Amino acid sequence: MALYSEKVMDHFRNPRNVGVIEDANGIGEVGNAKCGDIMKMYLKIEDDIVKDVKFETFGCGSAIASSSMATELIKGKPVSEAMSLTNKAVAEALDGLPAYKMHCSVLAEEAIQSALEDYRRRQEAGE
Ligand code: FES
Repeated sequence: MALYSEKVMDHFRNPRNVGVIEDANGIGEVGNAKCGDIMKMYLKIEDDIVKDVKFETFGCGSAIASSSMATELIKGKPVSEAMSLTNKAVAEALDGLPAYKMHCSVLAEEAIQSALEDYRRRQEAGE
C-alpha cells in the first residue's frame, strides 16, 4: 500500500485556498515545536458563516494537505460547525494519514481553532 493516499497527494500537489485574506476577521497561527512547521489561517466570517478561508503553511506535505482539506471542510459552513472540526475529521477526509503524520492534521485543527478564537476576541472587543 502507498504511504500516502491519493487525496493526500492531490491536496499536497494542488492545495486549495492557499494565500492571504487581506480583510480577514479571524487570524490564527500555530506551530509545532518538534518539527518546526508553521500554519497560518485567515477567516472571513459574515453572518456567522465562514465565507472565505485561506492558509499559508510552511511545513511538510501532510501539513499542506491537512490545511487544504481543513479549509475545504469549513468553507461556507456555520461558525459552530467550524468550531467542532477535529483533526480526525481532517485525516479521515484525506483517506487517512500515517500514524507519525497525524500531528500534521492536529496542526490544522489548532490553526482553525486559533483563528476562530481571534474572531471571537475581535467580536467581543467590537472590532
Ligand atoms: Fe510536522 Fe507535518 S511533520 S506538521
